[in-house]
Amino acid sequence: MDLRGRGALVTGGSGDLGTAISRALAQAGCDIAVGYIGNRDGAAKTCRVVEGLGRRAAMVQLDQSEPAAIDPAVESAAQQLGRLDVLVNNAAWNIGIPFPDLDKLTTEIWDRIYNTNVRGPFQLARAASTHMRKQGGGRIVNIASIAGLRPGGSSIAYATSKAALVHLTRCLAVALAPAITVNCVAPGLIEGTRMAERLPPAVIEGARQGVVLGRTSDKGDIAEQVVTFCRADSVTGQVLVIDGGLHFH
Ligand SMILES: NC(=O)c1ccc[n+]([C@@H]2O[C@H](COP(=O)([O-])OP(=O)(O)OC[C@H]3O[C@@H](n4cnc5c(N)ncnc54)[C@H](OP(=O)(O)O)[C@@H]3O)[C@@H](O)[C@H]2O)c1
Repeated sequence: MDLRGRGALVTGGSGDLGTAISRALAQAGCDIAVGYIGNRDGAAKTCRVVEGLGRRAAMVQLDQSEPAAIDPAVESAAQQLGRLDVLVNNAAWNIGIPFPDLDKLTTEIWDRIYNTNVRGPFQLARAASTHMRKQGGGRIVNIASIAGLRPGGSSIAYATSKAALVHLTRCLAVALAPAITVNCVAPGLIEGTRMAERLPPAVIEGARQGVVLGRTSDKGDIAEQVVTFCRADSVTGQVLVIDGGLHFH
């Protein structure tokens, strides 16, 4: 798909990776609707990046854990940009709970993680697909995590929510074919993000040591992969790991 002049909604566009993805899609020619929940300044900053590249930017406030918020947010993105061809399900929520602390993983935390990281992306894909179909097709890219492919990450709920997002990618690829492709990027630890900055230096060093390339996931590489998935016409249901080579061990 030629991305010039397309409309893209990037959820979590106010966040670290969301900014990089918005920039890469704008460089490829897309106008961007920047999703955020509370960080209006972050969303405005991403809009300035997009506008600096000569593309149009819009802000879309959204709590994607709330089902009633989904359709109006997608409608607002489509209306402000004039069309909607691309959805990047990048927003997610997590909290650090060590795997063995089963009792700390309360029902409230479990539900918040699943509602944000799994149900929200499904409902966003459903709403966006209505717009995309009207225009003859579209692209959906989900941002999962290597936590969804092997046991690890901030909590059991986060890891399993990302595993669900990986399989949601495949199921939606079947459901939305042939008009819409659905693919997924699964990053490892991304240095230079708030999430990574909260970790002790020893954990970051461990992440570097644990991969064959000796470096963690690069935001720019992830963003470029999102663009590549959006351009491709014959790729769907795929999960691409960007982690510095962890799975070679
Ligand atoms: N950072 C890493 O090392 C890493 C590794 C693997 C995978 N990932 C994945 O990469 C993606 C981006 O992560 P990041 O590091 O860029 O995180 P981040 O900077 O914390 O960004 C998270 C984004 O999600 C938004 N958000 C949170 N809850 C939301 C809700 N209920 N409704 C709508 N938006 C909501 C936030 O909005 P506000 O800014 O308004 O709060 C923010 O834009 C996530 O899917 C994450 O799981 C990250």
